[in-house]
Amino acid sequence: MQPDHRSVPTTDQRLAALTEDEKIQLVSGNGMWRTHSVPRLGVTSIVMADGPNGLRFSRAQAADGPEAGADFADFISLVTRRGEEPAAQRGPEPATCFPTASSVGTTWDTALARDLGNAFAAECRSFGVSVLLGPGMNIRRTPLAGRTSEYYSEDPLLTGVMAAAVTRGLQERGVGACVKHFAANNSEIERTSMDSVIDERALRDIYLRAFERVVGEADPWAVMSSYNRLNGLQAAQHPWLLTQVLREEWGYDGLVVSDWHGITDRPASVLAGNDLDMPESPQRVARLRAGVRSGAVPAEALDRATGRVLHLVDRATEHAGEPVPFDATAHHDLARRIARAGTVLLANNGVLPLDPETTAEVLVLGAGATDPVIQGFGSARMTPTRVDVPLTEIEQRAGGPVRHLAGVPAGEHTEDERRTALRAATAAAARCGVAIVFAHTPQNADGENADRADLSLDAGYDELIAAVAATAPRTVVVLTVPDAVTMPWLPDVDAVLVPFYAGQGMGSAVASLLYGEHAPTGKLTTTFPQRIADIPAFLGYPGEGGRHVYVEGALVGYRGYDEQETTPLFPFGFGLSYTTFELSGATADRDTLSDGASLTVSVRVRNTGTRAGAEVVQVYSQPERPRVRSGPRELVGFARVELAPGEERTVTIPVAAADLAHWDVTRGRRVLDDGPVHLLVGTSSRDLPHDVTVTVHTDVPRWKPLRRDTAPAAALGNPVARQAVAGLLARHLDVDAVTADELLQECRRSFVNVFDTVANRFRLVLDEAEITRVIDQVAKEEAVEAAPQETHSS
Ligand code: BGC
Repeated sequence: MQPDHRSVPTTDQRLAALTEDEKIQLVSGNGMWRTHSVPRLGVTSIVMADGPNGLRFSRAQAADGPEAGADFADFISLVTRRGEEPAAQRGPEPATCFPTASSVGTTWDTALARDLGNAFAAECRSFGVSVLLGPGMNIRRTPLAGRTSEYYSEDPLLTGVMAAAVTRGLQERGVGACVKHFAANNSEIERTSMDSVIDERALRDIYLRAFERVVGEADPWAVMSSYNRLNGLQAAQHPWLLTQVLREEWGYDGLVVSDWHGITDRPASVLAGNDLDMPESPQRVARLRAGVRSGAVPAEALDRATGRVLHLVDRATEHAGEPVPFDATAHHDLARRIARAGTVLLANNGVLPLDPETTAEVLVLGAGATDPVIQGFGSARMTPTRVDVPLTEIEQRAGGPVRHLAGVPAGEHTEDERRTALRAATAAAARCGVAIVFAHTPQNADGENADRADLSLDAGYDELIAAVAATAPRTVVVLTVPDAVTMPWLPDVDAVLVPFYAGQGMGSAVASLLYGEHAPTGKLTTTFPQRIADIPAFLGYPGEGGRHVYVEGALVGYRGYDEQETTPLFPFGFGLSYTTFELSGATADRDTLSDGASLTVSVRVRNTGTRAGAEVVQVYSQPERPRVRSGPRELVGFARVELAPGEERTVTIPVAAADLAHWDVTRGRRVLDDGPVHLLVGTSSRDLPHDVTVTVHTDVPRWKPLRRDTAPAAALGNPVARQAVAGLLARHLDVDAVTADELLQECRRSFVNVFDTVANRFRLVLDEAEITRVIDQVAKEEAVEAAPQETHSS
C-alpha cells in the first residue's frame, strides 16, 4: 500500500515520538541488508544490496527479521571465495552482470554511464531494493589492488565524473546510490586494520576529490565509510572525514553507512558521523545502548544519526512502488554496448579486424573463450541472467565451427599435462590462419580481501602466448583482466584487445570488435607499467607494521610516470581504433581564467578513416608556474565523440577553474596556479599535440602565511607579514616604520624564526601572546585579501 505522504509526520515529530530503543534500532542493521521499521510511525524497513556491476540480491534479503540473510559465515565466505562460483548466499537471483567499473570507465562515456544507472535502478526496483551499494569509486593507486575492477580509474576527475553519472542514473529512477568506500581504501591487504597514511594534499586532491565531486554534483543518498584506517583513525570512526570534510565542508546531508562489520567502536562511530551500522550486530547494539545510557553518546548525536536514517527511508518510501520486472533483453543489450565501448585495443599491426571471407582457419585458445572471465571476486560477484560465450560468438561471425583448445590445463595439473596442452596448442597454431588467445590473471588470488601478487597473467598464459606467437601466422590476445598486466610477448603478437572484466555481454562485444562490426573505442583509465617497480606507489606498497604510507603523495598513476619520465607500457588515456581521427583548430572561448570561472575548449575532430568510430578528446592542464608538485599534466576535461567516416565535428569541453586548483595545506583551501597554463588537447596522456594557453588569475598570493616558525626571508617575502613584524619591531625599539623595516631586512639571512631572530638580535623579550596576536592579525588580513571571488566570469 502506498503511504499517504500528507500524513507523514516531520522528522522532528518522529524523533520526539521514538523511544531511545527504537532510535538505537533504526541506526543499526536489521539482519544483513535491511533497516528496521517502526510501523506505528509509518517508518518502513528498506533493503540495500550489492553491488557495483549488477544486482546481487537473494529472496532471503526481502524477508524482514533477524534471519534475513544475517549469516556471518555466509558473508565471510562470499567475500573471500575465489576461483569458483560464490556460495549460494541464500540464492542470488539472476540479474544483469554489467561490465565492472573498470570497463565502464574505459568508455569515457557519461551518457552510457547514466544509462547504466537507469538500468541498475530498474533491476533494483524489480526486486524491491531501495539502495544499491555502489558505485565503488576508490582511486586505482596500484594495479595490484584486489578491487581495481570495481573502480573506475587512477584519476580523480574521470572517477568522479563517471561515478556521478551512474549515481544520477540510479537516483533519477528512484533508487539510492551508496558511493563507496570513503575513503582511501586502495588495497585489500589487512583490509580492516591497515592505516592509509597520506599527506593532506594527496588526500584532498586525489583520494577525496572524486567523492567531493559526486557529493556536489549528484547528491548520493548514502556514502559508505571504508574499512581501513586513515592517518591513524578508523575511517568509520573518523570525525574529520565524516563530519568536518564530508558534511561541514562539502555540505553533504545524506546518510553515512558503515561497510559491513566495519565499525569496531560503535559509540565513537556515531559521534564521528557514521549514522547507520550495517549489518545487524547484537554486540555493537549493546555497546551503543550502553554509550547512550552513560551519556557518552549524547541524545543529540543519536537523534542526528536517526534523523538521517529517517531521511533515507523517506526518500526510498517516496519512490517505492510495485515491483515491475526489468527488461532482461534490453539490459543484456546495454551490457554488450558498454562492454563494446569500453574494450581497449592496445596493439594492432593490421590483423584486426578479421575478415571472415579472407581469414584462413581461426583457432581459439584459452579456457576463457568458453568459460569467460567477466567479473571479479567478492561481494560484487553476482549471478548473470545469461552469458555470451566468446567461442560461440566467434563461430557465428566466422561462419562455422571454430577449433578451441584450452592451451593451459584448468585447476590442479601435472607438469606433463601442462606440456601436453601447450604442445597441442602450438601444433594447432602452426596450422591455423589466426590464433585468438583468451588470457586472464589468476582467478584464485585477488578480488575482495586480497591483492594480486604481481602483474603477470595466470600461470602458463605468458608461455602459451609466446609459443603461439612463435608458431601461428598471426596471434591476437584478448585480456580479461582487472587492471594492468605485463606483456613479455608484446613485440611478437599482432594485436591485443582488453575488455577488462566486461560483464555478461563481453563475448559478443569482443567478437563484434574482432570481426569489425564495430571499431574499438575504449581508452585506458590507468597506466600500464612496463614492470612492477615502475608503479609510482611501488616503494610504499603494501605497507608494513600496519601502516601503508602513500610515499608518492599526489603523484599517483600517470602523474607519477610523467613526473619521473618513465615510459609506460601503455599510457593513461590510450586506445587504438580501426579508423583514424584528426584533431585541429583547438581554441578556448576565453584566454583568462580566475577563481570560480570556467571556459570551454573547442577542437575540430575529423574521422579520417573508412569506418565509423569514436574518439575521446582529452584536455590536460600544464601550469608554467606550478605551486605544488602534482605531475606535469593533469586531466581537466574530456569528451567522447562518435563520427561516421569523413565526418567532422567541433567538440566542446568545459574546463572549470576548480579542477585546475590544488589544495594548499598552509591555507586550508584549494588555490589556482596563477600565470600561463597550457591546456593540452589530444587523445592520450602522452599524445597531446594541441596547446591552448590561458592566463590564470587568482588573488591568493604565492607567499607563505606567517607562522611562529617562519624564517625572516619568508616573512620578508610576505608583505602583510613584513609590515606586521616591522610594526612589532617599531613598537619595541621605538623607531619609525621605515627604520624597523630596514632592521628587519638586516635579519634576512637568519634561519632562526623571525620572532626569535629579532628578539636575539635586538635584545628584546617578546611576549608570546603578542606574537600570537601578530600572527592572527596577519592571517585575518590575508584572508580578507584572498577571499574567493563569487563571480563566474573571468
Ligand atoms: C564490501 C562492500 C560491500 C559489503 C556488503 C563489504 O565486505 O567491502 O563493498 O558492499 O561488504 O556486501
